Amino acid sequence: MCGIFAYKGHQTEAAKLVFDGLKKLEYRGYDSWGVAWKKDQNIQVHKQVGKISEASDEPLLDQGSSIAMSHSRWATHGGVTQENAHPHVSSDGKVTIIHNGIIENYQELKSELGPHNFTSDTDTEVIAELISKHCKEMDFESAVKKSTEELEGRYAFIVMHQDDDKLIAARRGSPLILGVGDGEFFLASDIPAFLQYTQQVNYLDDDQLVVIDTEARFYDLLSDSEIEKRTITIDWTEEEAQKGDYDHFMLKEIMDQKDTVMRAINQNEEEIVKIAEYIKNSSGVFLSGCGTAGKVCMAGKYFFSVISEKHVSFAPSSEFPIYHHFLTPESLLIVISQSGETADVLEAMNVAKEKGAKVLSLVNVQGSSIARQSDFSLLINAGPEKAVASTKAATSQLSLLLLIAYAVAGKLDEGKKLLIETAAMINDMLNPRYLEFIKEVADEIDHAENAYIIGKAANYPMALEAAIKIQEVSYIHAEGFAAGELKHGPIALITEGTPCISLIAEDEVKQDIINNTIELKSRGAHIIGVSAFRHESYDHWIRVPDAGVASPIVNLIPIQLLAYYLSTHRGLNPDMPRNLAKSVTVK
Ligand code: G6P
Repeated sequence: MCGIFAYKGHQTEAAKLVFDGLKKLEYRGYDSWGVAWKKDQNIQVHKQVGKISEASDEPLLDQGSSIAMSHSRWATHGGVTQENAHPHVSSDGKVTIIHNGIIENYQELKSELGPHNFTSDTDTEVIAELISKHCKEMDFESAVKKSTEELEGRYAFIVMHQDDDKLIAARRGSPLILGVGDGEFFLASDIPAFLQYTQQVNYLDDDQLVVIDTEARFYDLLSDSEIEKRTITIDWTEEEAQKGDYDHFMLKEIMDQKDTVMRAINQNEEEIVKIAEYIKNSSGVFLSGCGTAGKVCMAGKYFFSVISEKHVSFAPSSEFPIYHHFLTPESLLIVISQSGETADVLEAMNVAKEKGAKVLSLVNVQGSSIARQSDFSLLINAGPEKAVASTKAATSQLSLLLLIAYAVAGKLDEGKKLLIETAAMINDMLNPRYLEFIKEVADEIDHAENAYIIGKAANYPMALEAAIKIQEVSYIHAEGFAAGELKHGPIALITEGTPCISLIAEDEVKQDIINNTIELKSRGAHIIGVSAFRHESYDHWIRVPDAGVASPIVNLIPIQLLAYYLSTHRGLNPDMPRNLAKSVTVK
């Protein structure tokens, strides 16, 4: 969802600073962008439609400002127009705001505010107007606090006033992080925006507000009292958050998998054992996540079943609340999320907590909302993932889940050994020759309108994940199926030359899925077999090492590369798929 970034401090080119920082958040939304800066008690705004990465910083140069805010939009209310781009300014020109989230009662507030010259269709402009109205009766800080009492929905907003030098920000439901430098402050929806300046952060929780003057003061909005916040040091580096010599973040993050699996399993063993005990003793264990993380959860269900003989249920987080009847204080919900901010996941957690169930989270972003709101949380340690299409986070999540499943079975050492071997295999796979070969396969099928992927057991969710990867970055219509389900319908879709990918492991279901692959071949499909062995039904064999139960992890590597090359061959930018956002903080 939208990216927000603001600065207040001693630097004198704040407009340019927030513009540069905002570029690093572009993965959060890229419909339009805007910057506001304050100079000589005058607020100026520049906004435009399109990607910030393709925009010139010309209008922001030499503005001589020490306070500025910026926004990169993923449209919710109102189309993609310059008027709807943020920042928004109140009709008296005094209050300027940027916002990420959805104000659900904005229509009611709009009518209460009476006739105004609203210039956009957004819910955000209403917040600016509301604050400005209250400013006529009280000081800026009190007006912002009072306004939050009237807002319903989710928000992270940052606001400034023409006659007051404070920067004020509040959060309910959407991420907001304060970066604390030496005499300077950064407010952003994600850390990479300010990582080059500071690694010291304060995470705002829901219903908290921060006032930045010469220092930062935090308030709890519900009790209207000042609070202390703990400063956390982030272990990401600016270099990790850059794409370096790679053309795209997606490729860089695929290549990062040379070492991210090792980083994922490098956990405190005592803690893993403690968590494993908890899982073992829980009655009713659920796995939940969204998108790619959801497919990882599905694979986790197989891991727990096969390795630890533990029954675990799965529901995508957006569907999870429906199953609240089955939650008790003995239940455990395991959530997986790269960003740690996905709204549907947070909602699933709330439902579980209301029933007294405990929550374990596997996240990539230290200190994120999901991590903080969980009873137990483990970091997958994949480093910043910026491409919208999740790659390294997925294999890290799979690795950590597998490790936990082994721990539940009392075989932590065996799991660790397997994963160390798997990490080494991935390191070997990601060599220039392998990449070149996958590129050639992509060449063969990049004209296709449809592609189908089949898998069985833990590779069934990987077939679903493969379909997501191909859909989101290449826009080819791709679908994943449980191999055995083909004959019950989907096989009707196969015509001469339809690309079909079979994800096969060296396991007890191998022969079944080979048979399904032959059935596809007999109907004219162009077969791409992903397996450790060659088979006569394949038109292309993408070789993967035999990783045993860890096969979903190695099978994803060529799929991610294939999706990447399908995207670039079709002239697309895989880092910024249309209509998508990296972190979905609305329901
Ligand atoms: C979005 C992204 C997906 C991601 C999903 C869940 O839809 O485009 O790539 O898998 O959110 O995100 P999370 O941060 O919770 O893993």
